Amino acid sequence: MPSLPAHGIIGSVTSTPLTPLSRMRDWLREQPTLTGSGRPIDDGALPGDPGALFVSWIRAAAEAGVAEPHAATLATVGADGVPDARTLILKDLDERGWAFAGPRSSGKGVQLAAHSAAALNFWWQPLIRAVRVRGAVREAPAAESAADLAARSTAAREGVAPGDWVLWRLQPTRVEFWQGAVDRRHTRIVYDAQDGGWSLSVSGATTSTG
Ligand SMILES: Cc1cc2nc3c(=O)[nH]c(=O)nc-3n(C[C@H](O)[C@H](O)[C@H](O)COP(=O)(O)O)c2cc1C
Repeated sequence: MPSLPAHGIIGSVTSTPLTPLSRMRDWLREQPTLTGSGRPIDDGALPGDPGALFVSWIRAAAEAGVAEPHAATLATVGADGVPDARTLILKDLDERGWAFAGPRSSGKGVQLAAHSAAALNFWWQPLIRAVRVRGAVREAPAAESAADLAARSTAAREGVAPGDWVLWRLQPTRVEFWQGAVDRRHTRIVYDAQDGGWSLSVSGATTSTG
């Protein structure tokens, strides 16, 4: 069993040379960023609905080789006002919102019960793309939560107390699509919920066919 690194040291005790914390500033700045390959945004071809653009982007991410493109970071806020975030899997997406699942007794479950506001963040490195989804989270009907749990493997169902598994849906009020570029001429596409529809704003580099 490998021993834990000594306090103040970062790095694997097996293969990677140890990096003292005093070197981390330089080490972090040496790490490359924007190493993917961005795609131009045709602002004349953007759909009116963020869900449609999300489907096209997550499929492109999968085709570009992103492992588990449906993994996201969910940010919530506790009753004490302190933010929190964790990784989870997007389970569904339709006009009712972006769906995810987990135990009601988890940190996210407790925090969502206190504050329904939440945000989901996706990052797809090969395409230099990120998506941010913000809005209110609602619990799905119990039958849908039960169906989600039933669809999990036996191993994944083990240890889940009856009634504790919840399917939630985040109904977005704002969805931001960020397309990075190696030359740093990034593009930001923002959908804001407005009067039952969406207003769209695009800033940064675009091409236009519309
Ligand atoms: C790739 C990945 C996917 C995960 N998917 C889920 C998920 O769909 N639901 C869930 O409750 N936890 C999932 N987890 C585990 C949670 O991130 C982890 O249990 C976390 O501690 C829960 O935080 P919370 O107690 O604040 O909710 C996943 C973790 C990873 C790394």
